Amino acid sequence: MGENIKVAKPFVDEEEVEAVKEVLLSGHYVSGPKVKEFEEKFAEYIGIKHAVAVNSGTAALHVALASLGIGPGDEVIVPPLTFFSTVSAVLHQNAIPVFADVDLESFCLDPADFERKITENTKAVIPVHIFGNAAEMDEIVKIAKENDVKVIEDCAQAHGTEYKGRKVGSIGNTGCFSFYATKHMTTGEGGMITTDSDEIAEKAKIIRNHGMVGRDQHVMLGYNYRMSEINAAIGLVQLRKLEKLNEKRIENSLYLLDRIKEEVEWLRVPEIRDYVRHTFFWCPVIVLEKEIGMTTPKVVEKLKDHGVEVRYRYREPLYKQKVLLDLSSYPKGCPFSCARRQIDYHNVFLPNVEKIAGKIIGLPNHPGLTKEELDQVVETLEKIGRGV
Ligand SMILES: Cc1ncc(COP(=O)(O)O)c(C=O)c1O
Repeated sequence: MGENIKVAKPFVDEEEVEAVKEVLLSGHYVSGPKVKEFEEKFAEYIGIKHAVAVNSGTAALHVALASLGIGPGDEVIVPPLTFFSTVSAVLHQNAIPVFADVDLESFCLDPADFERKITENTKAVIPVHIFGNAAEMDEIVKIAKENDVKVIEDCAQAHGTEYKGRKVGSIGNTGCFSFYATKHMTTGEGGMITTDSDEIAEKAKIIRNHGMVGRDQHVMLGYNYRMSEINAAIGLVQLRKLEKLNEKRIENSLYLLDRIKEEVEWLRVPEIRDYVRHTFFWCPVIVLEKEIGMTTPKVVEKLKDHGVEVRYRYREPLYKQKVLLDLSSYPKGCPFSCARRQIDYHNVFLPNVEKIAGKIIGLPNHPGLTKEELDQVVETLEKIGRGV
């Protein structure tokens, strides 16, 4: 057995340490020049007018929904193959998540099913650029416009992903990024909202800061979702490194996928559309359980035994989460008591997501891996296929 291969790793060195030290010694920790500069540089990177920094990706989604005026009883269409934040942000805004199926190739929201799920109550859609891929934004934006539905891109796993030459986060009404520790770039914890709209950016800045304009003047319901100067200083350094890290991440993933396609018949490699720059948040593959005669959890266990750590997400469509089945997110039935029709997640069954949830594993692809380690990943997969 070789050394343990980790699935993710932050890339931080003396540069980030120095940047943090500078802030700590400056005595200025909140809403200062580092946050402003990070916002400007991030907006420039994404190719959009505004970026508004917050303290997590979940906060970014919540602020985006609030800034777009999504509220009680409004329906928001979401895919069920994502981290729960995509849904919890909707619930925190007292709005109702409605699930639409995913595309079997991209694992992202299926535009046709999004269209089918629209009702007169639908006010927003959150396409998630899952695992670094890009959702079909042209179709999603077209359908959304025709139905007066706002588009909030969840880009928490897709920093630098491109769709037809445009960075994700610059296509919908807003984009929402996470800078959690394992993401393409990190600030420890952190998030960003991107938008071309002056009005949304202005509202987002007020909502993230206690709904406050001036001292002690609270004009909206807000939160303390501010990013600190310390996190922004880390973000500025990480942003400078992002493209290099992404290139290596892509190179590692394509190497793995090419070899797997040729050599590992019990894994299905996702199709990558030629107009998408996929940035591979892990390297996702589907386990063909019948072909290998093993369940996916067993494959994950075997990989671990052989020293290869993988991500095993998402095991179930989100509509099967207890908090939704019980309609128990807030006391007294909120937000479902505000729904304009009966909501029961027990009745939801989306065939594509049911086919793939629980069968996707994310192979290690982080920029620190050597060719030998990538070869070790493929060789381990081959061994497991031979029953070793
Ligand atoms: C798709 C997706 N959306 C939202 C989030 C929330 O981001 P954060 O953890 O920064 O709150 C995550 C984070 O893991 C995510 O993967």
